[in-house]
Amino acid sequence: MTMYDDLKDKVCVVTGAAGVLCSTMVEALCEAGAKVALLGRTEQKLIDLSEKLKANGFEKTLPIRADVLIREDLENAQEHIQDAFGSVYLLVNGAGGNTPKAVTQSEVLEGSGDEDLARGFFGTDMEAFRFVFDLNFMGTLLPCMVFGKRMIQSGSGNIINISSMSATNPLTKVAAYSAAKASVDNFTRWLAVHFAKMNVRVNAIAPGFFSTSQNKFLLYEADGTTLTPRGNKIITHTPMEAFGRPEDLKGALLFLASNDQSHFVTGIVLPVDGGFSAYAGV
Ligand SMILES: NC(=O)c1ccc[n+]([C@@H]2O[C@H](COP(=O)([O-])OP(=O)(O)OC[C@H]3O[C@@H](n4cnc5c(N)ncnc54)[C@H](OP(=O)(O)O)[C@@H]3O)[C@@H](O)[C@H]2O)c1
Repeated sequence: MTMYDDLKDKVCVVTGAAGVLCSTMVEALCEAGAKVALLGRTEQKLIDLSEKLKANGFEKTLPIRADVLIREDLENAQEHIQDAFGSVYLLVNGAGGNTPKAVTQSEVLEGSGDEDLARGFFGTDMEAFRFVFDLNFMGTLLPCMVFGKRMIQSGSGNIINISSMSATNPLTKVAAYSAAKASVDNFTRWLAVHFAKMNVRVNAIAPGFFSTSQNKFLLYEADGTTLTPRGNKIITHTPMEAFGRPEDLKGALLFLASNDQSHFVTGIVLPVDGGFSAYAGV
């Protein structure tokens, strides 16, 4: 008997399933005995993950190519999952990320010359900004709309969104990502209230700093081992003085996923951050 027995054979959907953090969350759900649909854009990555899990004894996964920004993809995925596994109990909205094009070169404006302006806010590539905002916010909202509707109709469900430290106190340089994740927090609370009487909970996890492919270019120099000044600042501002390990998210995920453990918890954003959000810097 484990603390998460209620997750056994529950049908879960994880978007961005093949990502560094999300593949670990998938593993946690598999370890709890859940059936897990793996959604993402690149089918081969999902198949590879499914094969790897199978080799470790986890047979109940279903790789499905679906773009979280395309409603039809999500609806097709929903039908496929319903046929293969049954009604979805849990949705984890993990797909998200950033792109170097949506990151300003300067942290703060230092002057009003053309070069200064181009290196900061005024040089923002609007297409990249929109891409990052849509991926992180609309890419959370749309799956909630598609899978959430069936949860409401079936009388139970659970949604976990993935936020970021940048949602509350925005990090310099990443305006689009910060605005999108702030929207994710706000929407998490809004939807939690909206669904509160319908036996569908909505929460979020806010990971601190994890060294992954998404942010490697911000944390490490080109040699891949020396910390950038930004990477150093983060470590200095993290009381535990380390980057998180993906497996550090497993406990938070299973706690929120399990109705036995958290049935009265809805509308929260749970930081897993080594103390980053608690620390004022002095
Ligand atoms: N890494 C960190 O330190 C950190 C910190 C805080 C929050 N987060 C958040 O945690 C979540 C997971 O991050 P991660 O580090 O695991 O990211 P990751 O390794 O970059 O993986 C992101 C995943 O999302 C998928 N994806 C991207 N666009 C998609 C779309 N339109 N439709 C469907 N899937 C799409 C990607 O699939 P393809 O490769 O096939 O495109 C990839 O599998 C993200 O929301 C991220 O913002 C990360």
